[in-house]
Amino acid sequence: MERIICLIAGYACGLLQTGYIYSRMHHVDIRKEGSGNSGSTNVLRVMGVKAGATVFFGDFLKTLIPCLVVRYLFRGQPDVRNLLVLYTALGVILGHNYPFYMGFKGGKGIAATAGLLVAMDLRVTAVCLILFILIVAVTRYVSLGSLVVVTVFLAGMIFFGGRGDYGIASQYLTEFYIVSACVTGLAYWRHRANIVRLVHGNENKIGSKK
Ligand code: G3P
Repeated sequence: MERIICLIAGYACGLLQTGYIYSRMHHVDIRKEGSGNSGSTNVLRVMGVKAGATVFFGDFLKTLIPCLVVRYLFRGQPDVRNLLVLYTALGVILGHNYPFYMGFKGGKGIAATAGLLVAMDLRVTAVCLILFILIVAVTRYVSLGSLVVVTVFLAGMIFFGGRGDYGIASQYLTEFYIVSACVTGLAYWRHRANIVRLVHGNENKIGSKK
């Protein structure tokens, strides 16, 4: 029951579509511009650095804050609280990617996943951040950097989770891995068009208008 509540509460937080709200406040419908994605990459592409950074921060916080609240609320259940943090973040990502009131057409969940990373493990966050910056600086493909980040996230959850770093009881570990894999799998699914473009060498580069 706690899992369902965390998922639903997370989904409600994820519905706060920072990119869409920000763009409408500036008389732009971000879903009709650039890649059509309502996330911070497309806002950066279409509306500039300040707009992209603001939207990234908003989407990042909408995962980080509920994750920290859940961890606090379940502080008395250390063997399960990080699993509930994970369910909360999965809910946020689902709400962000599939907002019902926007015809289930939202973003790709990377800024929201960054909030989960920071809530869960600063070591994995640091590795992801360094790899993301290097990959985007060299290739200018944000999507490639994003896919590497979600892959390293999953590896980190399996490695450190299995080592006992998150305090998860052994009977919940498989579930923890499966939910982590759902976060990563969702990101791959939302990036499927990007993956096809990356394979064909015609992915949009940051700095270009599409
Ligand atoms: O975080 C989204 C990014 O990985 C790709 O965005 O707009 O280039 O499809 P976009």
